Amino acid sequence: MKSTQDSPILVTGAAGDIGAIGRNLTAMLLAKGHQVRALVRREDERAESLRQLGAEVVQGDLTDLDSMHRAIAGVTRIYFGMSVSAAYLGATVNVAAVARHHGVEAFVNMSQMTVTQMSITETTDSPQHKLHWLAEQALAWSGLPIVTVRPTVFLEGFFLRLAAAGIRDNDELALPLGNSKTSPISAVDVARAVSVILDDPVPHIGQVYNLTGFESADLNHYAHVFSDALGRTIRYRNVPLSAWTNQLRELGVPTHLVNHLAVMADLHAQGRYDRMTDDLFQLTGKTPTSLYDFVKRHAAEFTPSKVTA
Ligand SMILES: NC(=O)c1ccc[n+]([C@@H]2O[C@H](COP(=O)([O-])OP(=O)(O)OC[C@H]3O[C@@H](n4cnc5c(N)ncnc54)[C@H](OP(=O)(O)O)[C@@H]3O)[C@@H](O)[C@H]2O)c1
Repeated sequence: MKSTQDSPILVTGAAGDIGAIGRNLTAMLLAKGHQVRALVRREDERAESLRQLGAEVVQGDLTDLDSMHRAIAGVTRIYFGMSVSAAYLGATVNVAAVARHHGVEAFVNMSQMTVTQMSITETTDSPQHKLHWLAEQALAWSGLPIVTVRPTVFLEGFFLRLAAAGIRDNDELALPLGNSKTSPISAVDVARAVSVILDDPVPHIGQVYNLTGFESADLNHYAHVFSDALGRTIRYRNVPLSAWTNQLRELGVPTHLVNHLAVMADLHAQGRYDRMTDDLFQLTGKTPTSLYDFVKRHAAEFTPSKVTA
């Protein structure tokens, strides 16, 4: 089953630019010689750049039946992932129902590591965690050949998108993550793990992979890593959660996402992200990207632009 030159692999959320797992995964699968059908929500320049990479681009909505028939007919392997959203469970079940109808040999589901600590009696206050837990339940009942990927927090979220302005403008890693340890992972590493699974899925069917980053350390340590990588002193400031979430709301971040990020921050403070596993190395044979290398790669986003006279 190693080669699927004759049928494409479906990658959903392929235009995303938060973790951008879909976009990175598309490039990685194409580089391995697979055909990729990339699902995008909108026809825009991101869709065009996926075409330029060599993907077949299909436009559609993950919650819509017709879209999913067009996307899934003729594929045998699926990566399912989409933005954190209140529609997550409906979309998962919609895609799974159509995948069952067409018959697929592998369905890789993007989940979250906190789900490992959830059960029929244990949940969190995050609406997204609950949707991921329910989605995993429904996929288990579906009888589909599921592979579950549960990464910890992405470097691209809290440590880039949500931290860059504070580092760039104030030399501060200003986050509401408390003083416990965390092991953030690069979403590029997550995409690499998924590409290994989809390249040859049979040994992975039924498995759950918990993916963590290079090390588990506290935020003061990570501020030192930023300082080393950027060549100037960056300090951690543990900002009050309510002020931080108010700011996100003012910036127009949807309530579902704000509520999810607030719970992630609270669970960080409780030490619930202090986890380390070997799953990424076992899958890819590669050590996770360190924060130092990540900051070097994104240095421009953490560096004030020079004022010209
Ligand atoms: N961020 C973290 O720290 C973290 C940690 C662990 C797990 N995860 C999981 O990772 C996943 C997100 O992955 P990511 O960051 O790579 O995603 P991403 O970059 O945010 O991309 C998600 C894509 O999904 C598309 N999408 C959303 N709703 C859709 C719909 N109804 N129909 C079609 N497309 C839709 C978006 O389209 P548009 O671009 O058009 O909006 C976007 O391109 C989630 O399952 C999340 O729970 C995240």
